[in-house]
Amino acid sequence: MEFTSQFYDFTGINLQSYKRPQMERRLTFLRDKLGFRDFTSFFTAMRQDPAILHQLLDRMTINVSEFFRNPERWNALVSKLAQSEIVQEGQRLEAWSAACSTGEEPYTLAMILDNNFPGLDYHIFATDIDKTVLNSARQGRYRDAQLKGVPERYRHKYFESSSSTWTVQRALWRKVTFQEHNLLRDDYPKSLDLIICRNVLIYFTEEAKHYVVTRLANSLRDGGFLFVGSTEQFLRSETFGLVQVGPFLYQKRNAP
Ligand SMILES: C[S@@+](CC[C@H](N)C(=O)[O-])C[C@H]1O[C@@H](n2cnc3c(N)ncnc32)[C@H](O)[C@@H]1O
Repeated sequence: MEFTSQFYDFTGINLQSYKRPQMERRLTFLRDKLGFRDFTSFFTAMRQDPAILHQLLDRMTINVSEFFRNPERWNALVSKLAQSEIVQEGQRLEAWSAACSTGEEPYTLAMILDNNFPGLDYHIFATDIDKTVLNSARQGRYRDAQLKGVPERYRHKYFESSSSTWTVQRALWRKVTFQEHNLLRDDYPKSLDLIICRNVLIYFTEEAKHYVVTRLANSLRDGGFLFVGSTEQFLRSETFGLVQVGPFLYQKRNAP
C-alpha cells in the first residue's frame, strides 16, 4: 500500500508491523471522520498539518495506561525479585519500561522498588514511540481519577497533592528517565535486569512480535526478568533463551 510506505518515510513507523484489520479500521475511520476521499489526500494533509498526524498517532497507538495495572502480577514480580540476587545489597538495578505511555507503569515500578527494597540503587529507563505521551509522563502530574489504582499509603508517600492534581514526588521522579524509542526500529539498551513491556505486543503482527521479543531477550542480562501484558505470553519461550517463571513473567537463562 502506497500510504504505508509514505507514512514510514515520513514518521519512521512501519504500519505493516501492526495487525492489519485493526490498523485499517482505525485509519479508515479517521480518514472518513476528517472528510478525506482517499488515503493520498489524507497523507498530503498530514504532511502539512501536524495536528492531523497527532490525531492519527493517538488513534493508532492507544495510550491507555493505569497505575498498578493488574496488581496481583506486580506482587508476583516483587516475589520473584525478592528471591533473586538483583536486589541484594550493593547491586544496582537497571530497568526498562518499554512503551510506557503516560508514565503510570514506570512510576508504579519506582514506587514498588522503593517501598519493597529500601536503599536499593535503581534506575528506570522509560520509552515510547509517541512524543505527546512522553511529555505528559515527564510532568508526572495526574488527576484524581487516574490515581484510583494507587494504594492509599503510596499516594501519601509518593505524591504531592494540590486541589485535584497529584504530582510524583521529586525523589521518585528523578529515578525515571523518559526517551522516545520505536521498538520496531531503534537500538535497544543492553545488560538490563528487568524489562516491562506490556500491552503493546498485542498490536503487532506475529512477525513483528517475534522480532521485538528476540531483541528484548537479548537486552536482558543472565537472570534478568521480562514482564509482559495480558494475552502477550509466548509459546516456546526457550527459543528466546527465556524461562517462564510466572503467568506473565520470564527469566533470561543463558545456555551453560
Ligand atoms: C496500551 S499502551 C500501554 C501502556 C503501558 N505499557 C501499560 O501497559 O499500561 C501502548 C503504548 O505502546 C506505544 N507504542 C505503539 N507502538 C510502539 C512502537 N513501535 N514502539 C514503542 N512504543 C509503541 C503507544 O504509543 C502506547 O503508548
